[in-house]
Amino acid sequence: MPNAHVTVHTEAGIDRIEPELHGHFAEHLGRCIYDGIYTDDSVEAEGFREDVVALLDDLEMPVLRWPGGCFADDYQWEDGVGPAEDRPRRRNLFWGQGREMIPEESNRFGTDEFLGLCERVGAEPYLAVNVGSGDPQEATDWVEYCNYDGDTELADRRRANGHEDPYGVRYWGIGNENWGCGGNMGPEQYAGEYRQFATYIGSMDGQMLDDDLELIGCGFSNHEWNRRFMEDMTDGIWLSDMQMDHLTLHHYYGRTMSILDGDADDYDEFLAGALALDDHVERIAGTIEATASTRNVGVIVDEWGAWHTEADPATGLEQPGTVLDALSAAAVLDIFNDHADVMTMSNIAQTVNVLQCLVETDGDDAFKRPTYRVYDLYAPHKGNEAVTTSIETPTREVDDEELPLVGASASVADDGEVYVTATNLDTRAAHTVEFTVEDATGDDVDAAVLFEGQEPDLVVDADNAGEFAAADLDVSVDGDGTVTAELEPATVAAMSVD
Ligand code: AHR
Repeated sequence: MPNAHVTVHTEAGIDRIEPELHGHFAEHLGRCIYDGIYTDDSVEAEGFREDVVALLDDLEMPVLRWPGGCFADDYQWEDGVGPAEDRPRRRNLFWGQGREMIPEESNRFGTDEFLGLCERVGAEPYLAVNVGSGDPQEATDWVEYCNYDGDTELADRRRANGHEDPYGVRYWGIGNENWGCGGNMGPEQYAGEYRQFATYIGSMDGQMLDDDLELIGCGFSNHEWNRRFMEDMTDGIWLSDMQMDHLTLHHYYGRTMSILDGDADDYDEFLAGALALDDHVERIAGTIEATASTRNVGVIVDEWGAWHTEADPATGLEQPGTVLDALSAAAVLDIFNDHADVMTMSNIAQTVNVLQCLVETDGDDAFKRPTYRVYDLYAPHKGNEAVTTSIETPTREVDDEELPLVGASASVADDGEVYVTATNLDTRAAHTVEFTVEDATGDDVDAAVLFEGQEPDLVVDADNAGEFAAADLDVSVDGDGTVTAELEPATVAAMSVD
């Protein structure tokens, strides 16, 4: 007998699921860039790690944010362009001093390497400018170097560095965590800085070849801070004059939990922490609605994911890649689908080797982490219309709140096919879930599952990475489009239903 029920209201559209909701983030931190995306940080470096680039290409990343993170908050972009042997070596202020892994920054990987990577893997670049220690001129010059097609010194420098055509970088983040490593600013101070940077960067809009810049403000998971920032930003101006297209927040969870020593109670708390993102998205969207309702400012979660006690700064924030983390990613992607009406992008932290990465390298090996499998399974949602689901699920009390043990989201493709994803967040027990897809016949159902029979703390490595691939999921289908499936503990399922 089913003990959970998911109804997919195929006529109750939410909005298009922007492909950018499946975006990524790479920072000069630990082995994300060097020994991750790029071979190493020496002048003689061979270049890209082709094994990693091939995995990223297959992932079909819609957008990639770079160079940080806190690294962006004192990054001088001109250090990283031109002949490798002329690039200055700098301390890596936030992720270098006293750290064992990649303690300094050689600038071997810079703007042209990053934008070259984006071209190779088909990702849109998202650059975060240095507001913390930088100035608006430096940031505006970066936009000109990347995007200008005229006869200026900066455009010519790009050409001399091997890229004749402008890159056409659309997404520009005005800082990173400006309430913290980006300058420890109060909301009104950041609003002033934002306006100043946006005045100059925004003026480049329209002067760029075939370009339409989208400027991104840095919000916070402290919603009072966001309210004050947005009130200051919108005070006494026409909203059409406000140069902001998106507002961000970051959400990390599991920070007090060891992924290797945790137990089932810890897993519940960890998953509740992941689901807290739902409330954060609603609250930041509410602030935008209250202060800038006519401006159409989208919500971006441009850093998120599992961050465990194993992720020590001294070892470059590396932590084991597990089924539990991947399960949390699936639950979060379901949340993003449900908020397709307000969300414009997300960027999981980080792409390679750091935190909840999707790709890990180990010597000459590069392999997919379980979270990569979730992104593959959820890929058919990209570009679909998200639709509403109603979920009846057993729950478990966690810190005076009820953790829903079964989650789901759904979308409808242009050709009418319905795509449903679901999680069993219960690491202790299986649940039998009945899916009712309104208006479906159930004539054609394809179902797949991830992580069946695997322990939540099972760690991926080069030898077992293949074992995390999706398998067929047994389902029973009634004539009226009702599909029933047993979801084993800590599993992720997906089905297409006609
Ligand atoms: O992703 C690691 C760090 O987390 C980033 O540098 C920073 O923005 C955040 O605090």
